[in-house]
Amino acid sequence: MSPETTKSWKVLSRLANTETDREDVPRRIEAAGLLADLTKQRLTEPVLEGLLALASERGLRDAIEAQFSGEPINRTEGRAALHTALRAPVDERPESAAEAEAVMTRVLDLADDVRRGTWRGATGKSITDVVHIGIGGSHLGPELAVEALTRPWHLGPRIHFVANIDGTSLSRALAGLDPNRTLFVVVSKSFSTLETRVNAGSSRAWFLERTGDASAIARHFVAVSTNLEAAAAFGIPPSNVYPMWDWVGGRFSVWSPVGLPLALAIGRDRFLEFLAGGHAMDSHFRRTPFAANLPVLMALTGIWNYNFLGVTNQAILPYAERLRLLPDFLQQLIMESNGKSVCHDGTPLNVHSMPIVWGGTGTNGQHAFHQLLHQGTRSFAADFIIVANGEPPASHHRWLNANALAQSQAMLMGQEDADPHKRVAGGKPTTTLVLPDLQPSSLGALIALYEHMVFCQGIIWDINSFDQWGVELGKRLAVPIFEQLGGKPALGQDASTRGLIEYLTRDDS
Ligand code: F6P
Repeated sequence: MSPETTKSWKVLSRLANTETDREDVPRRIEAAGLLADLTKQRLTEPVLEGLLALASERGLRDAIEAQFSGEPINRTEGRAALHTALRAPVDERPESAAEAEAVMTRVLDLADDVRRGTWRGATGKSITDVVHIGIGGSHLGPELAVEALTRPWHLGPRIHFVANIDGTSLSRALAGLDPNRTLFVVVSKSFSTLETRVNAGSSRAWFLERTGDASAIARHFVAVSTNLEAAAAFGIPPSNVYPMWDWVGGRFSVWSPVGLPLALAIGRDRFLEFLAGGHAMDSHFRRTPFAANLPVLMALTGIWNYNFLGVTNQAILPYAERLRLLPDFLQQLIMESNGKSVCHDGTPLNVHSMPIVWGGTGTNGQHAFHQLLHQGTRSFAADFIIVANGEPPASHHRWLNANALAQSQAMLMGQEDADPHKRVAGGKPTTTLVLPDLQPSSLGALIALYEHMVFCQGIIWDINSFDQWGVELGKRLAVPIFEQLGGKPALGQDASTRGLIEYLTRDDS
């Protein structure tokens, strides 16, 4: 049921319309080692009260328990969403997730073997390069985590990521690789995703052209998938297939065998620290009263911004080069989860769900798009993500954080000026998240924080955050167009698409 009919929604609407003399609430929360400063958000005590009442009215407490206990909360697909079980101690996992432990042990054993050089290629050589093939949830989390956490002294294999079907993605990854020292990791929950199938097929062809030995596939290709038959049909032996489960959504799967490249890059112990960081956030989320519960408060703050203050886009601004891929990862996590317009019962959602999420690293963004943030006409909210103990040299890091704080201050305070061109309005709602350092546990906690935030907002809006039916249409339409770009008559197409097909297939193109 759409939320605008609830009592608390009406109270909040009144507050949004009557808000005059705002007394902002200083609000700083610590959770799982992270600090969140919500002081620059436009929250007042009555607003917070209203938001917390909304959370109760929407049954958030029961919904959280339903998620953790493995109820099929992804109702359109009849599935649980149990990614939290993958990072929980074994005795705290629901029965339905019990099989995960043995599989994760195999994943971590493989990572150890490759890192130690005991996993040998078909010609007896150790592995120096891993090519990870996957897209969406089977790519974004692993690449973010590998880029954020790999340090030169970890001594693991080099990890290359291939996602896009554009051949450049694969050819760049393969350039200069020795097939005898390369391990391909094909990751696809469904094993039917076009990009991954095509990239995996071309990788196999590249490998066979150079080695001429089909039996060598068994030492150079492994797969992660729920679709064991399709992986076998591709030619990957069952012993090299690491199963996934339908109770882990793609965009929530970095904690599962999908995280294999991270384990390969940083090793077993640090991978387990990553899981522990996620679990620490889970414990906070599950046990802390809502008034001090970070994922809940971040979710409610978002609801206030998007549904009552008219905020139409959410910027993600990591001030850490190693978190360069965080905006891409969060785009999928948030927009694929909560870019919906229908409630659970199929009735329309009558209020806005998630706005556009985008972002980029500071300080680079300051010299690109921040101008619009300071003086443009569009409304936005921003999350600054900073690291207390960051990369040396110390003076660089101090400048980095000084700039992050200066930007959020400018967005809050603005500036008066007699010259209207120099006036900065201020009053922009921002949150600053502080990681103690950029380590596996803090990244784990950060990712889990956003996962739970997404979940809570889905509950408030009464949408299914765990399906993604909207992406199917384009996939289907691409099939006949592929044939028509290959020379078949462009029948059944709209005029624009037919014109483009004809242009791309004209004789002189
Ligand atoms: O097309 C969207 C999507 O289904 C995502 O939800 C998913 O993460 C991605 O494609 C990849 O899917 P798979 O892991 O099945 O290849």
